[in-house]
Amino acid sequence: MATPDVLTTATAPATATGAEGEPPLRPLPPGVAELLDRLAAPLRLVAHLRLVHDVAAQLVAWVERHCPALVLDREAVLFGVATHDIGKTLHPEELTGPGSCHEERGRELLRAHGVPDALARFAGTHAVWGSVPVGVEDLLVSLADKVWKGKRVPDLEDCVVAELRAASGRAAWEEFLLLDAFLAQVADGAEARLAYRAAYSPHAAR
Ligand SMILES: [Fe+2]
Repeated sequence: MATPDVLTTATAPATATGAEGEPPLRPLPPGVAELLDRLAAPLRLVAHLRLVHDVAAQLVAWVERHCPALVLDREAVLFGVATHDIGKTLHPEELTGPGSCHEERGRELLRAHGVPDALARFAGTHAVWGSVPVGVEDLLVSLADKVWKGKRVPDLEDCVVAELRAASGRAAWEEFLLLDAFLAQVADGAEARLAYRAAYSPHAAR
């Protein structure tokens, strides 16, 4: 899926695009960094989005390699994960505390900036699975948003296993073991990622 023009042109801030730092992180998709800059997104939020985006890129690459039969919109996942918490620019209290106001507000915010709902939806779906039907792209955004910090969520992982199993024809237990091994490997990097985010105070000004 193409990234909308409104998010592809302007210069992006270094915090959101650079590969510097430890761990080295993939740059956000074109246009997303510029939008975060325009919204004066807190640096802690930008750091979180970069970390989860980086994990999602690893996750998508693993799925493509492990289960090529699974039809997957890679660019949608990466855009979705890079913007999933953008509503926290409007609800900064949810950067450090509980709350779901940022979800629908984030979706609306993206729509207001010209992002089609097919891409904006992830801001609204990244915390729901199982109770409402969502696509595999939405599940991967949700999964990356958990495992980046080493959190494992069995019912979410079961949803992903079901998608893998349906595409590959392998047994659920086999898909579970393969996914589990990969997620355990990703979770091993959680400490370094949490340390990276900790460098950005929740109240850091831009
Ligand atoms: Fe998140």
